[in-house]
Amino acid sequence: MTDAQSGRTHPVPDSAPSDITSQTVNALEDLSGVHPGYRRAHAKGFCCRASFRSSGLGAAFTTAPHMQEQAETPAIVRFSGVSTNPAMADLLSPAKGMAVQFTLPGGDVTYLVGATVPVFFARTPESFLDIMKTVNETREGERGPIDLIREIIIHFSESKESLLAVKLLKPPASYAACHYYCIHTYLFLDSQGNARPVKFEWLPEGGVETLSIKDAAQQPEDYLMDELRLRLETAPAVFQLDAIFGEAGDPTDDPTRAWPDDRKRVILGHLYVTDIIEEPEGLLMDPTVMAEGMALSDDPILHFRHSTYTDSYNRRSAGQ
Ligand code: HEM
Repeated sequence: MTDAQSGRTHPVPDSAPSDITSQTVNALEDLSGVHPGYRRAHAKGFCCRASFRSSGLGAAFTTAPHMQEQAETPAIVRFSGVSTNPAMADLLSPAKGMAVQFTLPGGDVTYLVGATVPVFFARTPESFLDIMKTVNETREGERGPIDLIREIIIHFSESKESLLAVKLLKPPASYAACHYYCIHTYLFLDSQGNARPVKFEWLPEGGVETLSIKDAAQQPEDYLMDELRLRLETAPAVFQLDAIFGEAGDPTDDPTRAWPDDRKRVILGHLYVTDIIEEPEGLLMDPTVMAEGMALSDDPILHFRHSTYTDSYNRRSAGQ
């Protein structure tokens, strides 16, 4: 497997993370302290076994093996809460994540990593770091989460859409009943060498389900894992993978801005999540590791995720 931009194999622990990378991971650690052995974001989560069945409809746009007609690709899914604190109750971490590792023929891997908000709150690595520092400074005071969101929006107007989406999130009834957005633009490369800008979304087969305030109040801390375990006893949890194609003028380098709603959608296939498993050793869901037939866009946040995820991986695998 190679990163489409650099040709590097995976995983490659970066030996000396850049200054901004380590400062960013330090700032994430400052949010809730260091939790040795855990991811520096999305710390609480668990893995599932899954299988992706391609619809074949993506084959016209990409040579990626898992998008070809009749391809069935083994996958590992990790569901998570965004918090940096692994002990956070599910209800208190409003946005959720779904990271998917596809194992391609020959053993190469590629990833799609999504969350339950359609846009991100930072436009560049520098502004991400500034926002983290502001959160850490503001948190020292007496403010609650709503005040904090207001404060950030005042200082960082690019964050507005994302933070309003977070504010509107209701507690999910299930990890299997959330809509996950992979947010960034990627490129599909076809057999003629044409590149097309594309975004990805995972849609839950049974639709989005949320809890009422009354039901939410009665949930135990880890209700989302308990719910999924029960659900999988009777049937797999199914997600549809959609590709959304950008048109001329749609931003490809700005994860804080959504594309218009009317963009062409193609159903690439369905993911069948079958059972909860132990996390495989060495799992690093790096959204910059692409299959042949796919490439990264010019989104600076997408590129930055490689070094920060690797730094976090290196810290947690060293037991820090
Ligand atoms: C500057 C931008 C970002 C930074 C610095 C950042 C940082 C991190 C870090 C350090 C981890 C832990 C990695 C590990 O130890 O394996 C992580 C995990 C994760 N992030 Fe991000 N992230 C960013 C953007 C995003 C975006 C845009 C999304 C949603 C599309 C996202 C979704 C996730 C998810 C779902 C995980 C959990 C992955 C897993 O389950 O292994 N992140 N992030």
